[in-house]
Amino acid sequence: MSDKIGVVIDTGSQNSKVGFAGESSPRCVFPTAVARFRQQGILDALPEVYFGKEAIKRRGISTLTWPIQNGMICDWDEMEKLWHHIFYTEMHVAPENAGAVIAIHPLTGKSDKERIAEVLFETFLLQDLYLALSPALVLHASGRTSGVVWENGASCSYSISVFEGFPLRHSTVNSVINGNMLREHLQRLFTKVGYSFSTPLELDILDKIKKEVCYVARDYDIECAQSNSSGENKTSYALPDGQTILIRDERYQCPELLFKPHLYGYNCPNIVDNIRLTISRSELDYKTLFYNNIVLSGGSSMFKGISGRLLLELMKRGSDSVEMKPNVEALNFRDIAPWVGGSILANLSSYQNFWMTRQDYESDGVDRVNYKFF
Ligand SMILES: Nc1ncnc2c1ncn2[C@@H]1O[C@H](COP(=O)(O)OP(=O)(O)OP(=O)(O)O)[C@@H](O)[C@H]1O
Ligand SMILES: [Mg+2]
Repeated sequence: MSDKIGVVIDTGSQNSKVGFAGESSPRCVFPTAVARFRQQGILDALPEVYFGKEAIKRRGISTLTWPIQNGMICDWDEMEKLWHHIFYTEMHVAPENAGAVIAIHPLTGKSDKERIAEVLFETFLLQDLYLALSPALVLHASGRTSGVVWENGASCSYSISVFEGFPLRHSTVNSVINGNMLREHLQRLFTKVGYSFSTPLELDILDKIKKEVCYVARDYDIECAQSNSSGENKTSYALPDGQTILIRDERYQCPELLFKPHLYGYNCPNIVDNIRLTISRSELDYKTLFYNNIVLSGGSSMFKGISGRLLLELMKRGSDSVEMKPNVEALNFRDIAPWVGGSILANLSSYQNFWMTRQDYESDGVDRVNYKFF
């Protein structure tokens, strides 16, 4: 693969991160959205399909599709169009001269892996392919080969342990508390204080509020008490129409859902339970290694204060031995960690034999993908 252009693609359910192997950040990050005009034929001169930000701009007059949901491709026709857009429009690369690292969810099934390989080799005539499990890439990005990855994007939320570069699938613990749910939770918190956010544009504003003003309280009870006595945590937020709203407890109550879901009526395990359950599914000998190397990833792991609080909560819960001291790594580029890991991996000489080449595909058939990338 070393003599070809390497493209790294992480298509999330909300954001696609795309760029060249060996670079430190993606060339482009755009919504994983495809738009088609609702009424065909009236606008002959215009393209039939739009992608990314252009698709979002036209959502009022189009049918918008998000071809990835919960880490899996759910609309293959639109996904094919999106890959075309990525290679030719975003990257200006002809796939017949390129190799591609594609980040995939750790629970991606055999048939989906085969279909990805089939489309990329048959339709796009790609030269080399590397289907990389996202948590393994996150660890690469953090300079590790073993650890526990807690990934939380827009629709995926899971923890998984990775040993010597191989994600241990049986240790995966999925959670329902993902970025979309945190947004819904914020929406409800605002409804209670009289602010309504419901249109697609308003939901985008909620995503911005999550990003810009929300934070994880170090101690929830103390934060509530301080908020009642001093009101220091309130901030005013300017909406795009010029109005200003006052945001108070919602700032820390939004991400508190990750730590105390029961407070808000959700009967589900919290982030600490999930990480501990993942670690409990590994051999006793490796538990210390995993506790020492907990790595956060995904846009919804970007809340300020999350790593400190997580560490405190893990310590409070204790572990089986003193060596199992938790350590939480919150890379400052963790919102794009799978992409960064893919960029590193694509250039590693020790990984060159792990690629699936066009020749492998032609001589051994698509089934080879399951042996190369198990
Ligand atoms: N600074 C931030 N603080 C809190 N949440 C954030 C921040 N930045 C992004 N998010 C949230 O992260 C989510 C998007 O993250 P990401 O780009 O990792 O998802 P994705 O890869 O598209 O989705 P998935 O991996 O679930 O398929 C959105 O819910 C967004 O609101
Ligand atoms: Mg993602």
